[in-house]
Amino acid sequence: MSKQGSVKISVVGVGHVGSVVGFVAKPGSGGDMMRALQIDHYADHPTARLADAPVVAPRNGQVRVRIQAAGLNPLDGKLAQGHFKEWFPINFPYVLGTDFAGVIEEIGHSVEDFRPGDAVFGRAEPTAGGALAEAVTLSANLIAHRPAGLDAASAAALPTPAGVAYQALSEVLNRPAGSKLLILGAGAVAHTAVQLARDLGGVTVCGRGAERLRDLGIDVIEPSSPELATVAANSSFVLDTAGGNLQATVIPLLRPGTHVAAIVNPVDEELAKSSAITADYVVLATRQATLNRLARLAADAELGAEIAGYFRIDQAPETYRAYAAGKLIGKHIMQGDVG
Ligand SMILES: NC(=O)c1ccc[n+]([C@@H]2O[C@H](COP(=O)([O-])OP(=O)(O)OC[C@H]3O[C@@H](n4cnc5c(N)ncnc54)[C@H](OP(=O)(O)O)[C@@H]3O)[C@@H](O)[C@H]2O)c1
Repeated sequence: MSKQGSVKISVVGVGHVGSVVGFVAKPGSGGDMMRALQIDHYADHPTARLADAPVVAPRNGQVRVRIQAAGLNPLDGKLAQGHFKEWFPINFPYVLGTDFAGVIEEIGHSVEDFRPGDAVFGRAEPTAGGALAEAVTLSANLIAHRPAGLDAASAAALPTPAGVAYQALSEVLNRPAGSKLLILGAGAVAHTAVQLARDLGGVTVCGRGAERLRDLGIDVIEPSSPELATVAANSSFVLDTAGGNLQATVIPLLRPGTHVAAIVNPVDEELAKSSAITADYVVLATRQATLNRLARLAADAELGAEIAGYFRIDQAPETYRAYAAGKLIGKHIMQGDVG
């Protein structure tokens, strides 16, 4: 087989690294305080505490959202472990959480599309965090309206997993109908990716937990299956949500010219060259247009999240510690005190 396919290792979609919006802004004029899940330093085994943090008044172009629901993501653990110091530098104390849904309490100047009382959802920049709290203040560009029929918990489960799945599938892989797509890993990103990709046909998910996704109308395969070599060789596109060993196992099985979008770790450059594949490392850049698209799909019941568990803010420290330690599987949602 020819080994002359194009090789491209590139990072796609690094959004606003270094731009911090949220809890570094000035406190609300009334000096109001709220509870927030906070870390004070990096740690291999992160723990967080409920702290009193200032309620932040929205500045120009910002909104303050009362949190109804906030979703935990693997990123919340990795950030605290210091894995993304270069990509997403954070300042301590740092309030955890990117994904949320809630109701707008206050808007700053120049905010035209949102009003107090609007139901919204969104994703805070990882550099800023702030969603695992009673309220978050952030740019209005990072939120979207939440249609009737999309409840807060379901909305808060979507921004990061469905956002990166949408970005990788629509903006990076952009595969034609009928082509074969192999999705590595079977977590929240894979679950939403399947729903976004299945209309084009030819989707197989490879992961230990993939069996539960079969009902979505796709094929599934165990990582240990001998058939993986055939499935990989027949796939022209790969969305890698697993990284690590599974990525290293599958890349040499691919045929030249296959396009891989990896979201956990970049594909090893030498391995990509020797396999003559194209590899992109995709980092989610939150876009309002994407949030709007996800909201429409969810409201039309074409996209939904699996929620494995709920917790309240006073349970957030223990839930976060277990989640960051890998002891909780699946999407966990913090439910706020309102609505
Ligand atoms: N680059 C980016 O911008 C970006 C954005 C989002 C996520 N990520 C990364 O992508 C990776 C996957 O994220 P994720 O949100 O999909 O993680 P996740 O939902 O926590 O899933 C992680 C793994 O847990 C297992 N799992 C999850 N839910 C399960 C369930 N209901 N039943 C059985 N097993 C289940 C799956 O293992 P098996 O695969 O073995 O079945 C899955 O791969 C993470 O490393 C994350 O940091 C990157």
